[in-house]
Amino acid sequence: MAKDTVTVTNNATGQSVELPLYHGTHGPSVFDIRPMSKQLGLFTYDPGFVSTASCQSGITYIDGDEGILLYRGYPVEQLAEQSSYLEVCYLLLYGDLPSAEQMGEFQDMIMNHSMVHEGLRRFYSGFHHDAHPMAIMVGVVGALSAFYHDSLDIHDPQHREISAHRLIAKMPTIAADSYKYSIGQPFMYPDNSLGYVENYLRMMFATPSKPFEISPTVVRALELIMILHADHEQNASASTVRLASSSGANPFASISAGIGSLWGPAHGGANEAVIRMLETIESVEDVPKLVARAKDRNDKFRLMGFGHRIYKKYDPRARILRQAAHEVLAEIGAEQVPLFEIATELERIALEDEYFIERSLYPNVDFYSGIILKAIGIPLNMYTVIFTMARTVGWISQWMEMLDDPEYRIGRPRQLYVGEARRDYVPIDKR
Ligand code: SDX
Repeated sequence: MAKDTVTVTNNATGQSVELPLYHGTHGPSVFDIRPMSKQLGLFTYDPGFVSTASCQSGITYIDGDEGILLYRGYPVEQLAEQSSYLEVCYLLLYGDLPSAEQMGEFQDMIMNHSMVHEGLRRFYSGFHHDAHPMAIMVGVVGALSAFYHDSLDIHDPQHREISAHRLIAKMPTIAADSYKYSIGQPFMYPDNSLGYVENYLRMMFATPSKPFEISPTVVRALELIMILHADHEQNASASTVRLASSSGANPFASISAGIGSLWGPAHGGANEAVIRMLETIESVEDVPKLVARAKDRNDKFRLMGFGHRIYKKYDPRARILRQAAHEVLAEIGAEQVPLFEIATELERIALEDEYFIERSLYPNVDFYSGIILKAIGIPLNMYTVIFTMARTVGWISQWMEMLDDPEYRIGRPRQLYVGEARRDYVPIDKR
């Protein structure tokens, strides 16, 4: 990193400190505040980490003002059009696109780890029959650390790699099992002769009692969604995985923490929340009422699928998914998903409204992904599970990068203490 400096002066004391300024490949430069706490005894204050770089990373770059998203330098639009989810996994994990031979070996490695230990499948019976599949995912993925004692040394690069492969390989099986359990159907075993996404759809929808076929359009639509959700730099769930694993916690427990964070409706749970929101709208005539609620400061309601901490223009992933939604619905018949007409009317009204324009609130990745998932028959409570499956490679790539970072240490933010000043204990008979 190139080094210049910025000067910070505490005007109350007249003390100043020179802070190193680092420049990356793209995006804002950062100044290193570490000398400041040592020399000026000051902390920075940044609730929600809006302006704080928690690490240096070479995996994903986002330019929110220009609506740019790069995975290891490659525009996500090109990967969405020409790549596959497993090839994107290789790219995120290893930093470059694989040769044909490397891709073949990687695909075999992943598919050969797709089965889970039979003991793990007994975990499901402990959940209530109508448990949300995300609750099952948090529990079962965390439980993987009880099965793989042979690969829990996070300082061993081979242990890290086998754990990464196991998590990517087993997530579809665990996800499909969580769905099968919730509908009381028998679990399906993976079929390693199928592609990664097709194998998942088969485990989700096939039954032992009849042959199974799936439309290539459905497979490609889900592959597209998986590619677009694979990573997104230091979002809430990726930061959760980094913070959890910074203590030395094993990768399965750390990914389980990330799943818990992604479940929130402000984050990965938004795709499910978008559909639930659209389902409350009877007809396009009711859309203005919903937009009015979203603008009302006295109403906690927010337009799900709109707004983003970084994108202050259209989320490039939403743009791709909007087009894909049109294509999928053209094939299956738009009348199958009347919500699409309501969604496009909601988008039109919001994008013309001063409130949304002033705050740079545009559709994000979750606004159209739910429409496509609904069109290809994915049940609503599985939407965030699909996001979890797709994002596992992003979390794991960030985890591996952190452990290789010479500056890596346990994450431990500080605070501005605003509680009581020191005071002495008063015995109860004197209070
Ligand atoms: C994802 O970080 C990532 O990269 C996440 C993600 C990924 O790939 O990992 O991209 C995936 O999580 C996408 C976001 C999915 N969430 C939603 O769609 C939920 C609805 N959106 C919001 O809750 C909100 O926009 C956030 C959480 C996405 C961003 O919140 P910020 O950056 O903290 O913005 P904010 O809450 O400070 O809002 C700024 C203003 C406020 O109004 P004022 O106080 O200035 O008057 O915009 C308003 C907010 O009230 N606002 C909204 C709104 N989002 C923000 N008003 C109505 N509807 C909304 N959706």
